Amino acid sequence: MIILFTSLKTKEEVERMHEAGRLLSDCHKEIKKLIRPGVTTMEIDAFVEEYLKKHGATAEQKGYQGYPYATCASVNDVVCHGFPTTDPLKDGDIVTIDFVVNLNGWLADSAWSYAVGSISEEAADLIDAAEKALYKGIEQAKVGNRIGHIANAIETYANERGYSVVKDFIGHGIGQTIHEFPMVPHFGPIEQGPVLKEGMVITIEPMLNCGEYFVYVEEDGWTARTVDGELSAQFEHTVAITKKGPIVLTNQYR
Ligand code: MF3
Ligand code: CO
Repeated sequence: MIILFTSLKTKEEVERMHEAGRLLSDCHKEIKKLIRPGVTTMEIDAFVEEYLKKHGATAEQKGYQGYPYATCASVNDVVCHGFPTTDPLKDGDIVTIDFVVNLNGWLADSAWSYAVGSISEEAADLIDAAEKALYKGIEQAKVGNRIGHIANAIETYANERGYSVVKDFIGHGIGQTIHEFPMVPHFGPIEQGPVLKEGMVITIEPMLNCGEYFVYVEEDGWTARTVDGELSAQFEHTVAITKKGPIVLTNQYR
């Protein structure tokens, strides 16, 4: 189902999404412990599926528009939507693990980039910039601001740090389905998109590249890579817009 309007969530609905979000961030904490040279992203995928099942939830991405796995696992120059594989992660790799939790019909979506073993200074700086760019966007997720405030803050910060922002993949509204309106680009002017209202729940999920912003999708129909082969990193949170300011529903630090 494609929802062609922005649904506003009640406080109770936001709380249910927050429960999904807490489970998701707890799972990311466990993933962090598993990431090391030699582990495969297929093992991590199986871990996530099992972890969610154990906690009464399901991995919403599996089967979504034909996507075959619980997680997206995007290594090095893969920008997003990488398939988990049986190739062991190598010392110096960076990997983004992205997944959507369904807990009692309500969803949360969050991605983190992880360092595998010891990584280059360049890769570490990219990961740091991607996480901080996300928070620059979250700061702007206030009632009365436009989507453009979020977009512009992210792009401005990323460019200051010397990185480009991917344009082909954007954030989105989320609720009982993964992709709802509004669309949440991570680039462009302040004067774009709708004005933010209390009860909107959106994902903010900038992908930053060391090189150019251009990406291409492989023949599997999913895996998106940088055209120039340079590294890409991503952080994503699900964020509720409230009169008291943004609430990060997928925050690791609770
Ligand atoms: N988690 C993704 C996002 O951030 C959604 C992935 S779509 C899927 O929007 F088809 F790959 F599951
Ligand atoms: Co996601």
